[in-house]
Amino acid sequence: MARREIRPTTARSPKCETDRVTNDEAVTGTATGTQASDRQPAGSGASDGALRLLNELADDDALRADPHSVYRALRAQGGPVVAAPERNEVMLLDYDVSLAVLRDPRCSTNPSHRIRPPGEEDADDFRVAMTSGNSRVLLFLDPPDHTRLRRLVSKAFTPRAVERLRPHIAEIVDGILDDAADAGEFDVVEDLGYRLAVTVICELMGVPTSDRHLFGPWSSAASRLLDGATITAEELQASVEGAVALSTYFEDLFVERRRSPGEDLVSALLAVEEEGDRLTPDELRSIVVLLFIAGHETTMNLIGNGTLALLRHPDQLALLAADPELAPSAVEELLRFDGPVQLTGRIPTCDVEIEGYRFDRGTQLTVMLMAANRDPARFDDPDRLDITRTDNAHLSFSGGMHYCLGASLARVEAQVAVGKLTDRFGDVLELRTDDVRFREHVVLRGLTELRVATR
Ligand code: HEM
Repeated sequence: MARREIRPTTARSPKCETDRVTNDEAVTGTATGTQASDRQPAGSGASDGALRLLNELADDDALRADPHSVYRALRAQGGPVVAAPERNEVMLLDYDVSLAVLRDPRCSTNPSHRIRPPGEEDADDFRVAMTSGNSRVLLFLDPPDHTRLRRLVSKAFTPRAVERLRPHIAEIVDGILDDAADAGEFDVVEDLGYRLAVTVICELMGVPTSDRHLFGPWSSAASRLLDGATITAEELQASVEGAVALSTYFEDLFVERRRSPGEDLVSALLAVEEEGDRLTPDELRSIVVLLFIAGHETTMNLIGNGTLALLRHPDQLALLAADPELAPSAVEELLRFDGPVQLTGRIPTCDVEIEGYRFDRGTQLTVMLMAANRDPARFDDPDRLDITRTDNAHLSFSGGMHYCLGASLARVEAQVAVGKLTDRFGDVLELRTDDVRFREHVVLRGLTELRVATR
């Protein structure tokens, strides 16, 4: 079959009229990092503290247990927007600024737009590698490639498509909870969160569920790549090995599905790839691996973090157990209160002014999604868990063109899982893990385990 070559574009955002600073100016001249036009982000004293605190999040069990204390300290030290000019980085804790940055098409996820501080220009960045050559991850692509790829997969994840899965998701959860009732105790993270989310994504993608025991360690390791500079050389090695193991698994599955296609997403994407003009083989592999990892790591963590939050707020647990109709609003509040994705990044592709702040081209903007979710200027009494909260437009699924593709699926899975768990065991649910610990991941926040009694 004839193939037309698809030329990847790393186009600058068309919305940028001019690039007003040169590479040098951006890091050495007056335009270091960010400067406010009429609002003042904190200077480098506060930013040293900010970066140190964030790095400690990766290493310190106690801080990982309560990152909100870190965010509160950052806000107190540096205000809602903390600049680290010497690193050409800015950290956003403010809801309005974060949302405006996420929605601004001049702010890209593509790391090749980053202007690094002097001395680090040649630093290896796995993220750059993920957008070029043979590894092109949707999350880090700009239009038009982003638009083309996202369109190919978005149909499978529309609210309507996902709502059709709800009865089947309920069957899976019932089966898991039957086992939990028999056992008298179970691990909400592994036995409910992981088993549910991995089963659903396997079924959607046509991956044999009998292989599901393989994926947990690979995905967990591979997702640490998101933590960038906070991981050690050994952790990086393990992450790369996890990613390679997943890629190899899918290469073998592609051979199998080409031989005997099914009704699943992988078979559908293989058919598109064979048409030759909309999806390259590298893009196919990247999108399948991303969907697969994103499709269960985060949802598993939402179910774990959310159940822990309910156990720590027995009044809210009782409220939900008494009224299962509250499940959708409870899940929104659990996403806001302790969501599984802590932060994301954007890089302005030209000098921009957003919500009164000026950010220079090439600056790394770290959007602290979970800090924005507790911004007292946006949410009433933000540190209170209130599953009946109605004004709850949290940023846990991000915003703008990279808004989570799987948000509807994650919502339905969590609503069914948390709803049925509290409906069935609300009276007896009791924490059995003595030492509740969060994994070392910084970007994806989740528990190592959460054992609970079911009788
Ligand atoms: C509670 C569960 C989940 C959370 C909190 C979550 C969060 C996020 C966030 C914050 C982003 C955007 C990052 C950015 O803007 O830089 C994102 C993107 C994405 N998510 Fe999710 N996610 C969840 C579940 C899922 C599921 C179940 C799937 C797939 C089945 C999925 C697939 C994706 C994909 C493909 C992207 C990239 C979208 C793009 O770049 O256009 N996610 N997710």
